[in-house]
Amino acid sequence: MNIALAHKLIAQHGSPLYAYDLASVSARADELLSSLPDRARLYYSFKANPFPAIASTLREHGILAEITSTGELDAALAAGYRDGMVGGGPGKTMRTLLKMLEHGVRKFSCESFQDAKRISQAAQEAGVEVSAVIRVNPSQAPDARLAMSGVESQFGFDEALLIAEAKPRLALPGIRWNGVHVYFGTQVASVDALRRNTECALATAERVAENLSIEVQTVNVGGGFPWPYAHEAPPPSLAGLKQALTEAWQASPLSAAASLAFESGRFLCASSGTLLTTVLDVKQAGQKTFVVLDTGIHHLGGMAGLGRIPRSAMTFHNLTAQRTGEVTVDIAGPLCSPLDCLARGIKLPPLEPGDVLAIPNVGAYGLTASLTRFLSHELPPEIPYFSIPHDQ
Ligand SMILES: Cc1ncc(COP(=O)(O)O)c(C=O)c1O
Repeated sequence: MNIALAHKLIAQHGSPLYAYDLASVSARADELLSSLPDRARLYYSFKANPFPAIASTLREHGILAEITSTGELDAALAAGYRDGMVGGGPGKTMRTLLKMLEHGVRKFSCESFQDAKRISQAAQEAGVEVSAVIRVNPSQAPDARLAMSGVESQFGFDEALLIAEAKPRLALPGIRWNGVHVYFGTQVASVDALRRNTECALATAERVAENLSIEVQTVNVGGGFPWPYAHEAPPPSLAGLKQALTEAWQASPLSAAASLAFESGRFLCASSGTLLTTVLDVKQAGQKTFVVLDTGIHHLGGMAGLGRIPRSAMTFHNLTAQRTGEVTVDIAGPLCSPLDCLARGIKLPPLEPGDVLAIPNVGAYGLTASLTRFLSHELPPEIPYFSIPHDQ
């Protein structure tokens, strides 16, 4: 992020703050859309970041909305979505379903027999018919760093159980079953792995279609397109992805009549986000040096706070001073918990109180995945801006 702009934003809005570069959101949207097979649809997973300016940028690129709560519905509405929304996620409540129906959501991803009953009940109560894709947890294991299907999990229908019991149990009023949804997991590391997962999702959809005798109009094969989290690393290459996915799709008999869909959160918005933070204290404890920031796991807690990423992999750019030398420090936040540590044993040029630091690549699963109420600190403001192209 441009240093002068970062200082200007801090001066205007205070520290810490999240800055989101909408030009970067646009660039990622173009990049991903042009790497998918022609005519494939793409859903934005609001869980990655419900900030409306990000979502409305994606909407302008023709990207649809995947929402899982009333809060994400509100964000989608604020971003200008009126149609093109699909309601997903396990554990949908009647309240959530009814509110989604009230605001025009007519497509759902169904996670279980109980979820199907509730969707049917809500549709009847609202006096509408909805279409739903069946989210399946395939028997086959995926290529994902955080696997959510192909392993025993709370997500989707267990494939064997679905095939054994679906016919009587899914004949429900108000729901038209029109497709299959498979989401294997996130941070899928390579084009090869994305291709294998897509092939596996399509094979699953073919088995389900055949066994349940449903007319598949749409197959959502998930995604899991990767992006570095909170550190500066080379972006993933999508070279060859379009060809690999197109071949996988054309090889599936479903491509004759159905349409193909993908979903993505992280890839679309991670690069847009920078967390600007100020060093409050630098202190010794025995042999160790602790740097205390005005931000921590309450603002950037999703993955770091819950131990999901190696904490030494975070990047901290000092925007105040370029000092020489190297010290080993733990970077802590202001919470009264030893868990509030963004990096341990990281080597950096010396830091001083007052230094403004920038943590890059936190546009996805940053504030939205954090322990924001813990210790009741203020929420950092979230500020959209447009960078000039070479800044992205
Ligand atoms: C069903 C589903 N779709 C999409 C996503 C978004 O994943 P990502 O942000 O890695 O693209 C998730 C993330 O958990 C998910 O559970």
